[in-house]
Amino acid sequence: MTAPFKYAVLASGGGSNFQALLESADRGNLSAEAAFVASNNSKSGALEKARAAGIPAYHISAVSSVATRLLEDHGVHAEDPEERVSEALLLLLKTHPVHLLVLAGYMKKVPDAILKHMKNRVVNIHPALLPDFGGAGFYGERVHEAVVRERRAFSGMTVHMVNAHYDEGQVLLQRRTAVDPADDPAEVGRKVLRLEHDSYWRVVKGFAHGEIVPTGSSDPARAVTVSEDWQRRMRLLPGTVFP
Ligand code: GRF
Repeated sequence: MTAPFKYAVLASGGGSNFQALLESADRGNLSAEAAFVASNNSKSGALEKARAAGIPAYHISAVSSVATRLLEDHGVHAEDPEERVSEALLLLLKTHPVHLLVLAGYMKKVPDAILKHMKNRVVNIHPALLPDFGGAGFYGERVHEAVVRERRAFSGMTVHMVNAHYDEGQVLLQRRTAVDPADDPAEVGRKVLRLEHDSYWRVVKGFAHGEIVPTGSSDPARAVTVSEDWQRRMRLLPGTVFP
């Protein structure tokens, strides 16, 4: 038997994307194990969902007791708040090694030390068709409000590699959904989220099956290579814009 493909999740909110990954595995669509979930938000639904599924769940903030204990147990001394978070996350990744770090609604910046440790192995999902409605200030409802304000005929989701510049990494999968003139931001959000839930697992599976392969390149446009076959299959899905 080959070792299972493992991923870790960073999330801040409800955790429906994480849940969708778990369900994909339950349905037999995705053969991958969540090694742990970490959140900056102690009340994150993602942590609750992880605990319910028996997956290690960690509340990691500069002052959280979990982070404090982790740092103490490993003899890591850090005073600076950002450094405490960075070191605590790094310890988690060292104690639960994973192939892929999956950001699923993580509202904090991923520390540089983590990007270095997980070079070209960090993915994010964004609820819009990047580069539109991406970057600083575009998160949560704000994205969908802007789409409605600009009367866009389409919105969608983007799964992309993460680098030091927010929402600018190599795009892996992008799918769109029609926006009806009568849709309010909440309705656009629901449509986009449905698309997200049907998409993220396909990318994780691409990594798990060696169809998306991290490179050693420091060029953000070449973080991974993607097989022709995977791209061809993604193009057959409804709404695929990229690849
Ligand atoms: C999703 O819309 C995702 O695109 C964005 O944050 C939201 C997270 O939702 N990055 P959930 O916590 O997975 O339900």
